[in-house]
Amino acid sequence: MQILGIESSCDDTSVAIVTKHKDILAHVSKSQIAQHAPFGGVVPEIASRAHMDILHTLIQQAMKNANIQDYKQLDAIAVTAGPGLIGGLIVGVMMAKGIAHTTGLPLIGVNHLEGHALTVRLTNDIPFPYLCLLVSGGHCQFLVVHGVNHYTKLGGTIDDALGEAFDKVAKMLGLGYPGGPIVEQLARNGDPHAFELPKPLCGKKGCDFSFSGLKTAVKRIIDNQHTIDDDFINNICASFQRCVADIIKDRMRRAIGACNDHIGSVKHFVLAGGVAANQYLNATISQTCQEHGMELVAPPIKLCTDNGAMIAWAGIERFQANLIDPITLTPKARWPLEAL
Ligand code: KG4
Ligand code: ZN
Repeated sequence: MQILGIESSCDDTSVAIVTKHKDILAHVSKSQIAQHAPFGGVVPEIASRAHMDILHTLIQQAMKNANIQDYKQLDAIAVTAGPGLIGGLIVGVMMAKGIAHTTGLPLIGVNHLEGHALTVRLTNDIPFPYLCLLVSGGHCQFLVVHGVNHYTKLGGTIDDALGEAFDKVAKMLGLGYPGGPIVEQLARNGDPHAFELPKPLCGKKGCDFSFSGLKTAVKRIIDNQHTIDDDFINNICASFQRCVADIIKDRMRRAIGACNDHIGSVKHFVLAGGVAANQYLNATISQTCQEHGMELVAPPIKLCTDNGAMIAWAGIERFQANLIDPITLTPKARWPLEAL
């Protein structure tokens, strides 16, 4: 069984062909970072046009790389149907519908978050259930992954996503986009205790996140600083990142407790989304897992950030569970996992 997956919900156009035996036969992507960088964030109109320009070429390239001549050699077409930027979603879904319609292949609309949450089963043999922390530019939530199509959200951000907070701090410091990798790099040369920053919601019940107050506190420090030199920038990056690590540690403890209350203890803690690339945060998360007798598992970074393989794989999992969509499938900008 082999499925072609299309991802176009944000600023990466990506296509992959994946088998049920977990072989990635082809995986081709085009990032739009260069087009969005001058604006310090993703511009939806630019994103949809860029997806439209490249998607067809990427599909042809993926078919060639996988040595598949005819779409009928595939078993289904999977596509991100939400949540995300509606223009990009429409481009992907219409392309998938076109292929499904002309070939008669089954169509599978994948929730982008389900794609992130299931990727770990493509790269590792992780059984259900597991606890997942999904942290990206658009999402920040704890999920109990009971099985395909079955999720419980334990908590999530009430304002900014974590990647978004990294991006905004980088923007305030004029560091470029995406901010996460730059902030992590500069933080290596800074003093993580140089500035004391607020930790919203820490110590409070539940396992929601909030980063907006932290971001505002960083802004106030920057506004009050006379000379913005390298030392200052490194110190603010390091202090921000340490504060985020402390917040994650506090929220993780709550989430693990909530998960235990919900379904009993689980063995695996899965990290997903672009922020999983951050080594400093990863060390904190790994340590917190150890304290709770859990094993941290994260897919390789290439599969943590937005990619087509995660959509193709979610397609495989859904196809095997008989979860096929009609040709009337419509993309949804908002689509919480619990609505599945
Ligand atoms: O999963 P992803 O590629 O796209 C979304 O679905 O958003 O994640 C991108 C986000 C960006 O906000 C980026 O700044 C953040 O992940 N990110 C990082 C790091 N690498 C990427 N944040 C913190 N540290 C990093 N090393
Ligand atoms: Zn994503």
